[in-house]
Amino acid sequence: MLIKTILILTLILFSACEDKKQTPQLDGKKLLEQKCASCHNLEMPPVISDDELAPPMMAIGFHMPDFMEPKDESQRVPMAIEFIVDFIRNPLLENSKCDKESIQRYGLMPSQKDKVTKDEAKAIAQYMFRHYTQENLSKVQKAQAKFDALPAGQKTALKHKCMGCHKIDKKIVGPSFKDIAKKYTTNKDEMINSIKNGSKAKWESSKGAVMPPFKQISDEDLEVLIKWITKL
Ligand code: HEC
Ligand code: HEC
Repeated sequence: MLIKTILILTLILFSACEDKKQTPQLDGKKLLEQKCASCHNLEMPPVISDDELAPPMMAIGFHMPDFMEPKDESQRVPMAIEFIVDFIRNPLLENSKCDKESIQRYGLMPSQKDKVTKDEAKAIAQYMFRHYTQENLSKVQKAQAKFDALPAGQKTALKHKCMGCHKIDKKIVGPSFKDIAKKYTTNKDEMINSIKNGSKAKWESSKGAVMPPFKQISDEDLEVLIKWITKL
């Protein structure tokens, strides 16, 4: 009886796996990163460099639909997806939407036929038009502007992921930076030591939680952090 049950279970599990194989969930974002980033810059906004090998992907994502000539507006993006699926595997000069200067600069894109399947190309193109949108660009820009406006110390704390355990004026895992500032108005060396080597059992409020050591932190960053925390 037991053996029969195990057999049936194995069969069910096995056929579930088979099902998965037949309808793979393709991750367009991951594929784009794996198959296209060696030539195209994928950032939004793009990081422009003098020696780039291809146009930034954001530019392609933004403008490709404009080149389509659909009979019906709702077909603009689906047409652009179809174009990209075809172009990746069969890039022809007469099909490229790049202007002459760009073609001269970059050359024609080499066919990715043996690196990207049609289904993968479709998943990539679908992701491109979901991701490279004005709406997402302004979200990124707003977040960037917000980050740029922060004090240098807070940027450094974010960079080192201190804010996962500390808030400025509220205790979370670790004490608030304001409470730390109160305690360390005079002894900054001990604070440096705690950041570099970690800290435990000094704060009852942290209920036994331990602060990991940050040995790799530069003296410059430490100074910026301490200056910021102690002035809070
Ligand atoms: C070996 C470098 C290289 C790789 C890898 C590469 N591309 Fe390109 N791609 C180019 C170059 C160069 C151009 C610009 C010239 C042109 O239009 O062919 C280009 C242009 C394009 C265009 C615009 C075509 C047009 O008509 O404006 C699309 C779309 C595109 N690439 C998509 C992709 C996608 C998606 C991937 C990943 C699957 C990819 N590329 C991988 C080099 C590359
Ligand atoms: C994984 C969680 C965690 C992270 C990340 C973390 N801390 Fe802490 N931190 C704590 C805890 C918990 C305490 C309290 C430990 C104790 O009771 O001694 C603490 C305490 C401190 C103290 C006071 C130490 C003392 O001597 O009283 C300082 C200063 C401090 N953290 C700064 C930082 C800075 C700066 C960063 C980023 C570089 C950082 N922490 C990242 C959890 C963390």
